[in-house]
Amino acid sequence: MVARKQLTAPTIADLLAKSAGFLKQKGSATPRLDAELLLAEVLGTGRIELYTNYDQPLNQVEVDRYRELIRRRATGEPVAYILGRAYFRNLTLMVDSSVLIPRPETEHVVEAALNVLLERDWNEAPRVLDAGTGSGAIAISIAAGFPEADVTAADASREALALAEKNARAAGAGRISFILSDLFESLDPTGTFDLIVSNPPYISAEEWTQLPPDVREFEPREALYGGADGLDFYRRIAVEAAQILRPHGVLVLETGYQQGPSVTGLLEAAGSFAAAVTLKDYSGLDRVVVAARADSP
Ligand SMILES: C[S@@+](CC[C@H](N)C(=O)[O-])C[C@H]1O[C@@H](n2cnc3c(N)ncnc32)[C@H](O)[C@@H]1O
Repeated sequence: MVARKQLTAPTIADLLAKSAGFLKQKGSATPRLDAELLLAEVLGTGRIELYTNYDQPLNQVEVDRYRELIRRRATGEPVAYILGRAYFRNLTLMVDSSVLIPRPETEHVVEAALNVLLERDWNEAPRVLDAGTGSGAIAISIAAGFPEADVTAADASREALALAEKNARAAGAGRISFILSDLFESLDPTGTFDLIVSNPPYISAEEWTQLPPDVREFEPREALYGGADGLDFYRRIAVEAAQILRPHGVLVLETGYQQGPSVTGLLEAAGSFAAAVTLKDYSGLDRVVVAARADSP
């Protein structure tokens, strides 16, 4: 028997069921969620409205547009790049393939940085550096959470900086300077920062081969790869950060979940930092290292 072409317009329920099945087959770890987010985008609604309008038929333009988004997702392209936005704390940030999609783990870095700022009395605006700002997630969150701070956002990628600047403007976050720099190289070399925050690239060569294809093939390698053992940036930071930190300055670093001991070891071996503390994420894994300059009061 020859299969009949569907003559009635497909409903939200039809399209979700079909697309989720297709994306699962194509290897998505979250097929139903992806299908819902993309359909909500096409219809200009929230996900909840998909369920309250489950039997609503879609017109041909909507079906074609949805098909195109599902096709992109089926190639592995992350939903955040397809939508052009990602959510971080209470921010909606524009993202594209020039920046890492901000991850929930990085919210712990922001919390640790804000705690440092809130715990001290500042006679003048504290100067904060976000090294490797990407979409601007950390810098903008700090500027929003501690508006008195004078924030510098640096990155080696011109495209990332342009997007971070757009995100800062859209968020209404003031007092952020954007600087193109290979780590700290183009920054004032004398100790001027009270706080340096960074989520540097930290994926090792071995981890790189095991990354899900939607990360490895779509997110920028320069934002992820941290050298053979993943620690190249921490080695540089351990030596170079003390030069641009003020005497009482603090370093807050995101690390890979297995890198806490190596990163604290590197900071202690560099000799410029007092005992480093490792903080855990919600999964109980090492995620953030906080260290103050050894000559702190
Ligand atoms: C892991 S991503 C972090 C992005 C963002 N801060 C976040 O947490 O979502 C690392 C960032 O470091 C930047 N980067 C890579 N190499 C760099 C270098 N040598 N100097 C400065 N930034 C660099 C990348 O462009 C990328 O934006």
